Amino acid sequence: MSNIGSYEERSKNFDWSISEKKLDYKDGDAINIGWYCSDRICQMGKANKTALIWEGLGGVEKEYTFNDIRLRSNSIASFLKEQGINNEDRVCLFMDKIPELYIGFLGVLKLGAIAQPLFSAFGDESLFVRLDNAKTKAIITQKKHVKKVRKIVNQMPYLERIIIVDYDGKHPLREREISFNMDEAEKVESFDCFPTKAESPSVLHYTSGTTGQPKGVKHVHYSLISQYLTSKWVLDLKDDDIYWCTADPGWVTGTSYGIIGPWSLGITQCVLDTGFSAESWYKFIEKRGVTVWYSAPTAIRSLMKAGDELVKEFDLTSLRHLASVGEPLNAEAVIWSDKVFGKSFLDTYWQTETGSIMLTNFPGMKIKPGSMGKPFPGVTATVLDVETLEPITEIGKAGLIGFKPDWPALMRGFWANEETYKKKFKNGWYLPGDRASIDSDGYYWFIGRDDDVINTAGHLVSPFEVESALLEHESVAESAVVAKPDDVNMEVVKAFVTIKPGYTADKDLELKIMNFIRKKLSPLAMPQEIEYVDSLPKTRSGKIMRRVLHAQEWGEEVGDLSTLEND
Ligand code: WT7
Repeated sequence: MSNIGSYEERSKNFDWSISEKKLDYKDGDAINIGWYCSDRICQMGKANKTALIWEGLGGVEKEYTFNDIRLRSNSIASFLKEQGINNEDRVCLFMDKIPELYIGFLGVLKLGAIAQPLFSAFGDESLFVRLDNAKTKAIITQKKHVKKVRKIVNQMPYLERIIIVDYDGKHPLREREISFNMDEAEKVESFDCFPTKAESPSVLHYTSGTTGQPKGVKHVHYSLISQYLTSKWVLDLKDDDIYWCTADPGWVTGTSYGIIGPWSLGITQCVLDTGFSAESWYKFIEKRGVTVWYSAPTAIRSLMKAGDELVKEFDLTSLRHLASVGEPLNAEAVIWSDKVFGKSFLDTYWQTETGSIMLTNFPGMKIKPGSMGKPFPGVTATVLDVETLEPITEIGKAGLIGFKPDWPALMRGFWANEETYKKKFKNGWYLPGDRASIDSDGYYWFIGRDDDVINTAGHLVSPFEVESALLEHESVAESAVVAKPDDVNMEVVKAFVTIKPGYTADKDLELKIMNFIRKKLSPLAMPQEIEYVDSLPKTRSGKIMRRVLHAQEWGEEVGDLSTLEND
């Protein structure tokens, strides 16, 4: 029997107080995610239960019980406090998927500070714009990433502490740098968690839009109410599960469902901190006996590519429930997973701003491969007419997804960007910026984004950010960046550039530019192809028309070109 039982029944009688009651939370109480994920679980008698099973490169393994993560997050919180970090200060977590990242996240929250996780593969420029926007006070990082921080530290007077979790004493620490070793630090038996309330800020995740710099999405401790219940009903987590969320906590899936959801339920989770290979993933599932697996379409397509024969070399019978998020999950992937694992990946739809799962397939529900499923109980969803922003009544007609802005995990703002935040709400609806249609059974079907943002392997890349970075390369005069179709990643970044006189438009320059972007931004933002052009299509007012280039890449009709200048 699944945790949700009957979707219809749950939807009819739904009230978020169901979740509040399970968490013993009453309106006005203190609520702290760090405490809920460790101290409370210990109080419930699970102190000796394994919380985290971690495996890194070369087969290194570590295990932590709920009591271990309680004590260690206490140590981190006290250390930060000693360093002068206060509630609501931003603390960036800039690490690979190591235990310090997961446990440090809880420590930051216990202090009442705001956790700002950033993807460790970010280059110095990507890191700088995000730290500068949040005026981050401390960053917790590793030796291997400290170089990138040092490169920009002089531009960040507000960054008071750079905490290195694996300092080996080989090279001297510089100003503002300090060593903190989580496993060796003195265990702090009790730490008075900051009495955060429902609306106290908790997590700050950065997400890319079409224009402007990335936006810092502000979440609050009350988001737990959504994350707890969606983990229970959608991921169907039960006490004896071994759960594996493949996402990096630099992205929201890795925090909402890679830390908060499972640990607030007292579930054992495992983490594999090595690069992707189909073989190592199957081996990990077999070795750890993974029962619930939350992953992403790009990974599933990569597994499909590795072939059916490989699957047969492993015993994957522990798998009980599979779910996916991040990009459209094509019907073939759903059907394939059913064939090789005997279970279908259930698609879930949500985003950084929503904080928790919004549209989803549930265990026990009839699955229509290719559909995102139905709204989570308590979520009022619709599809709005693009012009009038009124709900569409005609079945199957495409429009903008709209959510009534009343679920606990909805973001509470964009950091220092109130104006853009307000634009996300229209006519009483929160607009995630995606298009979909609803069929006669109430299932949602994804159509596409309503903007130019590129979704590569489930990660959003802003064309604006890549274009700006390209212009910083000495050879580039103008640039336009669009998505290009790709078998595995669905979309990859493609750049069109005009180059300055004196440079030769050849393969060598292409590779140099690619590498420049990879180091400055990230491997995801790196264009997979650079096309040299004599000029870029522009509107009469001089704005580059990405949609012309986009249509060309996807073999689609270009549409209205009346404002195009150089046609
Ligand atoms: C955007 C959000 C929260 C998960 C990680 C991504 C796209 C997400 C689906 C899905 C089709 C999807 C949307 C959304 N997206 N899930 N199941 N089917 N598209 O979070 O980086 O904030 O990206 O990813 O376009 O708006 P994110």
